[in-house]
Amino acid sequence: MGTAGDSEKKPTVVFVLGGPGSGKGTQCAKIVEHFGYTHLSAGDLLRAEIRSGSENGTMIQNMIKEGKIVPSEVTIKLLQKAMQDSGNDKFLIDGFPRNEENRAAFEAVTKIEPAFVLFFDCPEEEMERRILSRNQGREDDNIETIRKRFKVFLESSLPVVEYYESKGKVRKVDAAKPIDEVFEVVKAIFTPKDEKVAV
Ligand code: ADP
Ligand code: C5P
Ligand code: MG
Repeated sequence: MGTAGDSEKKPTVVFVLGGPGSGKGTQCAKIVEHFGYTHLSAGDLLRAEIRSGSENGTMIQNMIKEGKIVPSEVTIKLLQKAMQDSGNDKFLIDGFPRNEENRAAFEAVTKIEPAFVLFFDCPEEEMERRILSRNQGREDDNIETIRKRFKVFLESSLPVVEYYESKGKVRKVDAAKPIDEVFEVVKAIFTPKDEKVAV
């Protein structure tokens, strides 16, 4: 990323949003393989920050356990560092912005507007089933925290999707289908129009 005042081009950012367990991480891994983006999951970065023994670790851990959204300042610093370290100029930012504060702070700090927002639409019952069989040993993948995360998603995260909807930036995908079927739709969204073959 460029420093202030230079003429470097801003990076391309796609925000990947959807409820917990909608398949954001799964689809991002496939987009990386096919389209050369770097995948940055805000949740993964926060979990790595806990493991690193950082001074914010305990605060982050407590918030994740409660399904609460960590202050933007912390998350944006982690995202900026990961963007710098990647050497790439195309990013999938997964699970961010999670609320209006995340959104406004990212825009103010980085001056980056997303190219578009990929939104995975999935019924709660299906997301709950997926999270309960995810088996990654996550402290927030229990029914009590899942309920809290669903509530935060509806109250704080969906309004962000609506904000981008009003700017015509949302690409909504039915995420309840099997992984490969979801990816067929995702692939079409990332394929430049002039490369799409008419059938
Ligand atoms: P998110 O990052 O949105 O929380 P994940 O990508 O971690 O979601 O997916 C949650 C769980 O559901 C994982 O165990 C994953 O393997 C599984 N999963 C992802 N997409 C699908 C799908 N389309 N159908 C069935 N299971 C899926
Ligand atoms: O996206 P993921 O499910 O990995 O996020 C797990 C948790 O990380 C969230 O429930 C929340 O506590 C925290 N998080 C956050 N701010 C973000 C993304 C995740 O506080 N932008
Ligand atoms: Mg994830």
